[in-house]
Amino acid sequence: MKKIPVKKAVIPAAGLGTRFLPATKAIPKEMLPIVDIPTVQYIVEEAVQSGIEEILIITNSNKHCMENHFDKNYELEARLLESGKQAEADLIDRIAGLANIYYVRQKEPKGLGHAILCAKSFIGNEPFAVLLGDDVVINEGGKPALKQLIDAYEKMGASVVGVQQVEESQVHKYGIVAPSIHQFAEESRLKKLYDMVEKPNLKDAPSNLAVLGRYVLKPEIFDYLETQGAGTGGEIQLTDAIKRLMYAQTVYSYDFEGHRYDVGDKFGFIQATLDFALSREDLHDSVASYVKELAATL
Ligand code: UTP
Repeated sequence: MKKIPVKKAVIPAAGLGTRFLPATKAIPKEMLPIVDIPTVQYIVEEAVQSGIEEILIITNSNKHCMENHFDKNYELEARLLESGKQAEADLIDRIAGLANIYYVRQKEPKGLGHAILCAKSFIGNEPFAVLLGDDVVINEGGKPALKQLIDAYEKMGASVVGVQQVEESQVHKYGIVAPSIHQFAEESRLKKLYDMVEKPNLKDAPSNLAVLGRYVLKPEIFDYLETQGAGTGGEIQLTDAIKRLMYAQTVYSYDFEGHRYDVGDKFGFIQATLDFALSREDLHDSVASYVKELAATL
């Protein structure tokens, strides 16, 4: 059977962002800038670089600024051009042309699984990608994390969840997978899944491989999301629905390459800000000398 290419992506960005209050009272965490680019723009760019053509962002009533960010702003562009700021005008214009971006509201924050279910009619009967709105992955010089998963999907024709190892002290924060240790030994990043647990205690965790914000899913996932009851934290969990999908059809995990930042977490946000600033030519020297100065006082 011919495999349908992965051309659509869903970015759920309707969470409450409680870990980042009070900043997230009026500004969605996906719009908090890492240096000078909002988090969600990095994620949209990763999707585009991975071959995605249409993106659905799941929003809530507090997220108008995201729509404005990806729209044209003729007035601002005209003002920038009038004052000779061509480079800045081009920068603004480029954002509006990044991809075809659509929005749908999740009326209540009932969990990630519920947010993905809101994408059902947009996706139809195609495989699709999911990129969490607060997980930024940088794979300097290599394939974007999502592209690695799409390649694995194309090879296996089955859903793929992106994973990476986390410290034992962190397993209680994530969906943790149990991959088969026997299969695909020759390509160790890709493994068949046989269990998944959402936010387990360390003693119940089947491994330290955590699901980290990137998925390629077959549309059958919607059948399971539609009937999925609330799980951990009283929320409809995507992990629980993927686990049920896994009983009906093969699902793989892919240990993707790249540095992942949880920018919905204060420390993750600070790490991303420092690393991104240090990797920028215009900021590297001043930030590095400040960090050294600071380190000497600690
Ligand atoms: P998180 O659990 O990291 O987001 O969900 P949150 O609920 O906003 O975070 P805290 O714990 O309150 O700080 C992962 C992604 O799923 C989205 C979030 O916006 C985030 O990008 N999400 C979560 C939804 O879209 N809807 C939900 O009901 C829950």
